Amino acid sequence: MSEAPHGAPIKTPGQLIAAVIAGFAVPIVIIVLLAYYVDNTTRTGAGTDELSAQQVASRIAPIAQVSIRDANAPRVYKTGEQVYQAVCSACHASGAAGAPKFGNAGDWAPRIAQGYDTLWHTALSGKGAMPPRGGTSPDDYSDYEIGLAVAYMANHGGANFQDPPKPAPGAANAASGAAAAAPAASGADANAAQASAAAAAIAAIPQAASGNPAAGGATQSADAAQAGKALYTQVCQACHAAGVLGAPKFGNKDDWAPRLKDPMDTVYNYALHGKGAMPPKGGSNASDADVKAAVDYMVSAAK
Ligand code: HEC
Ligand code: HEC
Repeated sequence: MSEAPHGAPIKTPGQLIAAVIAGFAVPIVIIVLLAYYVDNTTRTGAGTDELSAQQVASRIAPIAQVSIRDANAPRVYKTGEQVYQAVCSACHASGAAGAPKFGNAGDWAPRIAQGYDTLWHTALSGKGAMPPRGGTSPDDYSDYEIGLAVAYMANHGGANFQDPPKPAPGAANAASGAAAAAPAASGADANAAQASAAAAAIAAIPQAASGNPAAGGATQSADAAQAGKALYTQVCQACHAAGVLGAPKFGNKDDWAPRLKDPMDTVYNYALHGKGAMPPKGGSNASDADVKAAVDYMVSAAK
């Protein structure tokens, strides 16, 4: 019979020892666990944090992102420098594929000599290894923005060109856009063939175009009709008399009618800046006024 009163939890020396040990051990375990809990961040060694949330996010980000553009929103144009950095620098920074190198006056001088309009047109329609618009579409960069990039590049190559006039809102790519679309649409081969045929035709044009006072740019002719006829005879006739390269034939109503559905300004613009195989100003450097007069002369003959 035990003397211990009923109900006391510790009845044997063994239980006493266990109770004493537990009395020390339990608080110690609790303290250790608390200490872990307080200091509970993930430990990483230097350079082993490649699973950080940011890195994972960048790795699983979608490859392409679609940004919706409101077609009616007023257009915010990129600057020439921005277009150059985004597109043209791919070739023009290093001079890849024979591109005139950015900032290299020697590369640019002969090109600048062609005049801004010609360079602009070339940038829009392409030339040799230079893709039309540097390989972009008119939705990416308007004619105006390409023109800014041309001025930016040429001016860093020694030119002193003005930026092209900012288009009126809405009238985005009216005239020169259509002009650039024509060569872009025809196949590259056809393009090259046409270009060389055009070069041959231009070579056949007597060199009088720039020097002759009747047709030359220097003299503002008193009689526009006279000047137009003279320029036609010297330059435009080389293609337009016989319809070389698909040129609308002089005096042929059927050839001209569909073209004259365009406003006259557009037709002038094609003559001034080129269209397909039609070189800017027919390859001459006559004044704008004389080229327009030549157009008038050709148009009146086809009415
Ligand atoms: C894929 C390469 C490439 C890209 C991209 C490119 N170019 Fe060119 N570019 C060329 C090459 C090559 C030439 C030389 C063509 C020749 O003379 O046959 C050239 C020539 C030019 C010329 C001189 C044309 C002339 O009549 O002598 C201009 C101006 C020009 N590029 C503007 C631009 C603009 C503006 C952009 C950007 C919107 C651009 N380029 C993007 C390769 C490129
Ligand atoms: C190297 C040949 C060539 C020469 C030179 C030439 N043209 Fe053209 N011209 C063409 C061709 C090709 C077309 C048709 C272009 C097209 O529709 O793609 C054309 C089209 C035109 C058009 C119609 C554009 C339109 O569709 O509304 C006019 C206007 C024009 N030329 C004016 C002139 C004038 C002015 C001259 C002289 C200063 C001239 N051309 C010299 C080849 C030439």
